[in-house]
Amino acid sequence: MEFTARISCPDRGMSMNGYRCIACAREQAADFDGFSCPSCGGNLDILYDYAAIAEDLARGFTRDSNDIFRYAPLLPVRDIGDRYPLRIGATPLYAAPRLGESIGLPNLFIKDDSVNPSASTKDRASAVALQRAGDVGAHVVTVASTGNAGSSTACVAAALGLRAIVFVPESAPVAKLSQSLAFGATVLAVRGSYDDAFDLCLEASAEFGWFNRSTGLNPFTREGKKTCAYEIWEGLGNRVPDRIVVPTGDGNLLSGMYKGWSDLLAVGLSDTMPRIDCVQSETSAAISNTVRRIREAGEAEPDWSSIEVDAVAASTVADSIAVDRPRDGLAAVKAIVHSRGAVVTVADDDILAAIGEMARLSGIFAEPAAAAPWAAVKQMQRQQALDATEVIVCLVSGSGLKDIASARACVGQPLAIDATIDAVRKTLAKTA
Ligand SMILES: Cc1ncc(COP(=O)(O)O)c(C=O)c1O
Ligand SMILES: [Zn+2]
Repeated sequence: MEFTARISCPDRGMSMNGYRCIACAREQAADFDGFSCPSCGGNLDILYDYAAIAEDLARGFTRDSNDIFRYAPLLPVRDIGDRYPLRIGATPLYAAPRLGESIGLPNLFIKDDSVNPSASTKDRASAVALQRAGDVGAHVVTVASTGNAGSSTACVAAALGLRAIVFVPESAPVAKLSQSLAFGATVLAVRGSYDDAFDLCLEASAEFGWFNRSTGLNPFTREGKKTCAYEIWEGLGNRVPDRIVVPTGDGNLLSGMYKGWSDLLAVGLSDTMPRIDCVQSETSAAISNTVRRIREAGEAEPDWSSIEVDAVAASTVADSIAVDRPRDGLAAVKAIVHSRGAVVTVADDDILAAIGEMARLSGIFAEPAAAAPWAAVKQMQRQQALDATEVIVCLVSGSGLKDIASARACVGQPLAIDATIDAVRKTLAKTA
């Protein structure tokens, strides 16, 4: 087996200038070679020299590339040089009038991240994290995953020529496992939950010296996901929406979304923060529960170093957001509190129904987790928590093709007929 040598840390060619702990706020220099805070074990946030970047971006994002590396001045990677081998990001932001108007929301948009190379938003994180792996001289990358981070890591590793080792719960949907295998990854199907896979991946990375891209733990994942915010801003004509509805498991997608909007504020490209709404399954609601607890205590700005994020025993049809102990939980909780976002927990039946509704009324086919934002918007509208004029963006984070079994459970069956025109006539008469 091939192992990485000890990595060396790059300190040039980038605008990042250090790390700050999400929990205790202690800072580390840019050449720090760990992923977690050495004082308290908290996740790290990457820091930038925003004043210098603001000068660089005085005319906006001008780099000529149709992918996330268009935002290179705000990414913690060395110059990627020639074009990247895959087109990651630059996904469409669609107005969805039929879907929105079905419940009285004319300004509904869908950010369709299912069209990334491995068909989920995870490719944004994989691109930046694996670029970092290359910057520090790693050859083996590993990841724990409910399925999508694994197939995404495998995909990007294949394009870059890195070896990928993927830890998944053995219950992961077959499409996600098949993708990882097709991309040539070593797939370790762990007899246990995602959380078991995560802990094992952590232990194995330490043991064998692999570059661990696992969500949340690796601070570079958040930096990739933040590019989704930049694209939404540009897609709306350099405007900030009122709210973005984000499906949430570990909380890294949500904390990345917050980081993106924070960056735009910090470099003076925007002047407001949208509400970042957190959607979770009722049966996997650790982050939502924690936010509710903080809000009930009436603390506008709690002492973050003392906040413990809840743990749950997750079980939901939306496998991508089935998480017992969120691995970027505190960053997500802070992001929701600071952006005044809603926390919405939805029933599994509503998530499944949302798959068909979105598909029929917008033409976009989402996996269960990615349909959850639409279920949440409907719930908020029922509870009169929305204003009809609001510009709302639902993030479709993964393709419906990733979990056909769930889709089949809610969209009915084909009508079996004999191969005659009479059979067509009779069957259609019955269904009219
Ligand atoms: C399709 C999809 N949506 C949403 C999420 C949630 O992201 P996070 O775990 O960072 O909260 C994931 C994570 O695997 C995902 O694959
Ligand atoms: Zn700390």
